[in-house]
Amino acid sequence: MDTVVLPGRDALSEQRIDPSLDLYAEIERLRRERNAVILAHYYQDGELQDLADFVGDSLDLSRKAAGTDAEVIVFLGVRFMAEVAKIVSPQKTVLLPDVEAGCSLEDSCRPEPFARFRREHPDHLAVTYINCSAEVKALSDVIVTSSNAETILNQLPKDRPVLFAPDRHLGAYLAKKTGREMTLWPGSCIVHEQFSERELVKLKVQHPKALVAAHPECPEMILREADHVGSTRSILDFVLASPAQEFIIATEPHIIHQMEKAAPAKTFFPAPGMDGACDCARCPFMAKNTLEKLYLCLVNGAPRVEMPEDLRLAALKPLQRMLDMSVSVNVRPAP
Ligand code: 13P
Ligand code: SF4
Repeated sequence: MDTVVLPGRDALSEQRIDPSLDLYAEIERLRRERNAVILAHYYQDGELQDLADFVGDSLDLSRKAAGTDAEVIVFLGVRFMAEVAKIVSPQKTVLLPDVEAGCSLEDSCRPEPFARFRREHPDHLAVTYINCSAEVKALSDVIVTSSNAETILNQLPKDRPVLFAPDRHLGAYLAKKTGREMTLWPGSCIVHEQFSERELVKLKVQHPKALVAAHPECPEMILREADHVGSTRSILDFVLASPAQEFIIATEPHIIHQMEKAAPAKTFFPAPGMDGACDCARCPFMAKNTLEKLYLCLVNGAPRVEMPEDLRLAALKPLQRMLDMSVSVNVRPAP
């Protein structure tokens, strides 16, 4: 992360918490005092999801960050998500409990090589997955998430070839779905690459009535086995609407927390990794955020996401295009 400054990393790392504190009560008090909204992704630990004001996928969270009237946004997710919140809501203070909460897709796509990639393909439109840095967003034509990518691709001129970065699996899935010619950046999510086709097939044999729901960041061999492919929110909607009672979930398993809350009578099996176990599919970046770090960031008003205004404005352009081109996608029903 070159240009985005998150002050306070060294000063905060040694901070101790009084063990007698009721952290839940303190977080509640600070949230009110600071006029803060807590936004969480489905891959966060269940206890963090439960104390968030709103839990969602990347598109839902971007919209929430753009629309909130709170003064402070606390992002229980990873850095690129908190950056998006700052890009769309510059007047707000945006806090990320752990600055080390990165993403393997962001890491795979640095701005300089990405700029070269663009220069080598001057006729192409750069359609970029939201899992990237603000700098890479600023070099892109339009941003997409896994829930709106197909809708957005279908609106782009058919005669323009597309560069898709940084997730090659999502890119390959979208090229197949839309029939578009797409040149893919060779990045991937370390979590979704852990699933084993062989172990998944074994699990399906053990549970023949179970439907498989998979995230499009999974490799093609996993998607081939799926009854439903979609974003985290779409997977959640699918299992809740389906009359089936058993599901195998091929994405980060913390999303099962929401499934079990909303459909306690249904059974959810996390898709297995290479050794038949499931723990390898937990996102180590999302796991950086903890209850203690959430408390400390509310106390300190840091770590805080900041970025130069020229970078923010450049990244806002393709992000705003995304929001405008996907107004009909994944709209949440009124409560
Ligand atoms: P969505 O929640 O948009 O499906 O994204 C998944 C993801 O990998 C977030 O890092
Ligand atoms: Fe990045 Fe994968 Fe973690 Fe999502 S699950 S934040 S894509 S490493």
